[in-house]
Amino acid sequence: MALLGLDAVPVEVEADISRATLPNFKLVGLPDTSVREAKERVRAAIANSGLTFPQARVTVNLAPADIKKEGPMHDLAIALSIVSAASKSAAGDNVRRVFLGELALTGELRPVTGALPTVLSALKAGFSEIYFPTDNSIEVGLAMEGVDSKRCIAFPVRSLAEIMLHLSGDGCLQPLDPAAVAQTTQLRPNDQSIDFAFVSGQAQAKRALEIAAAGGHNILMSGPPGSGKTMLARSMPSILPDMTREEMLETTKIRSVSNQLESGVRLLAERPFRSPHHTASGAALIGGGSYPRPGEVSLAHRGVLFLDELPEFPRSALEALRQPLEDGFVTVSRSQCTLRFPARFMLVAAMNPCPCGYATDPFHDCSCSPSLIARYGRRISGPLLDRIDLHIEVPRVDSRDLLNAINAEPSSVVRSRVTLAREKARRRFADGQNCSNATIRHQTLRQHCQLDAEAKKFLEEAVDRLKLSARSVTRTLRVSRTVADLSDCEKIGREHLAEALQFRSRTK
Ligand SMILES: Nc1ncnc2c1ncn2[C@@H]1O[C@H](COP(=O)(O)OP(=O)(O)OP(=O)(O)O)[C@@H](O)[C@H]1O
Ligand SMILES: [Mg+2]
Ligand SMILES: [Zn+2]
Repeated sequence: MALLGLDAVPVEVEADISRATLPNFKLVGLPDTSVREAKERVRAAIANSGLTFPQARVTVNLAPADIKKEGPMHDLAIALSIVSAASKSAAGDNVRRVFLGELALTGELRPVTGALPTVLSALKAGFSEIYFPTDNSIEVGLAMEGVDSKRCIAFPVRSLAEIMLHLSGDGCLQPLDPAAVAQTTQLRPNDQSIDFAFVSGQAQAKRALEIAAAGGHNILMSGPPGSGKTMLARSMPSILPDMTREEMLETTKIRSVSNQLESGVRLLAERPFRSPHHTASGAALIGGGSYPRPGEVSLAHRGVLFLDELPEFPRSALEALRQPLEDGFVTVSRSQCTLRFPARFMLVAAMNPCPCGYATDPFHDCSCSPSLIARYGRRISGPLLDRIDLHIEVPRVDSRDLLNAINAEPSSVVRSRVTLAREKARRRFADGQNCSNATIRHQTLRQHCQLDAEAKKFLEEAVDRLKLSARSVTRTLRVSRTVADLSDCEKIGREHLAEALQFRSRTK
């Protein structure tokens, strides 16, 4: 199988051995550098497994040729095709088999990247036997959960010698038992996010985060150093609704393809929280590379992408965020194909109000000139700001309040409110689970955001008084829709609008 984005496609490996000419080993259908490396690995692995590499002209072809294949994944299949062609013992049955694995020079099998999506794709393609490296057992176990053994069996393999023995009729390999794997591994525990209860004060910021979570709105926090912006952002996943199994599988697949699954973890049960540094490259953020891999925006799929110190990010990187923010996916184009990685995340961003950080801090002097502050604000482009529905100021909490903090609401309570509001929104949009209030389109804004008479008048007044732009009105309507959902109201009322207006952008 060859990985193509988050899926894999079957690759057929053929070997021809002709004794007429001088010994030679030719590999067709892989890119140059991988060919050289694969040849060396396969040759050594065969020799070190007690088999002989044929002294003849060996030609191996990987088809179809137009798919860009990554070397190591195909080692095992290449070695097996050579050995079976040499011994003329090609299997006579009609069983369709998949062989996955990178070979070490000793002939042992090394794990492959993206085992989970690969095996899922192999199942879809109708293969009935899957041979894979033992070290990939957890991912394969997950993929094989609930699969009838009459339909497909997966065999963990330790070495080339072992699988040769098995295929020659010995049958020494034990099939994988997905239930046993499930018992010895865990769902990924809650370790990263901070509970809301640990954040003292900051009632307004917490309320804004709750609204953001309930409506899927992006949020920008601005405040002096040490006011707790990073802490608040880190607490965000704890108030998001639980993922469905479908969503867990999706996020785990993305991790698997980027080789970022921690050992011993079967399924990611916790929504992702990604916080790339502002020096991260465009490809690291958005995804790409010659073998396209998901970027941070896809690793944050179904979770939170946190951009700390937003103005420090290069403008090009921020511009590149606009497409995934709009569409919920990233497209990576390569000469042979176009791949798509899902990227439906909530953007949580933080910044200081000025370069020194203290412009809004009453207890600290700001050393920046007004023009410097203006230039700092302009580093973030209008179109990006337009995609952020909620803008809030996070003031510093009085250190004394930190000491005698009153018991704050734990995340679980907030999460249950958020979950109810999301349910309400989901019922409103009949067209699938991906729609949240933050993505209500212009065309349907009027239909979904109905105002009562008093609210209508209030909004008209606000437009005049605050000189709201059309964009601001749209954002305010979306946010007030979520506020109304949180208080279980069908129509948007004056108080919902009033609260939503507090979160409008001050810069524009
Ligand atoms: N409301 C709060 N409740 C509890 N602890 C807080 C609160 N605000 C700040 N702190 C403490 O202050 C520390 C610094 O907060 P944090 O790193 O989140 O600030 P920040 O706003 O991100 O600052 P910077 O702008 O420098 O990045 C936190 O680790 C936490 O210990
Ligand atoms: Mg910070
Ligand atoms: Zn300053």
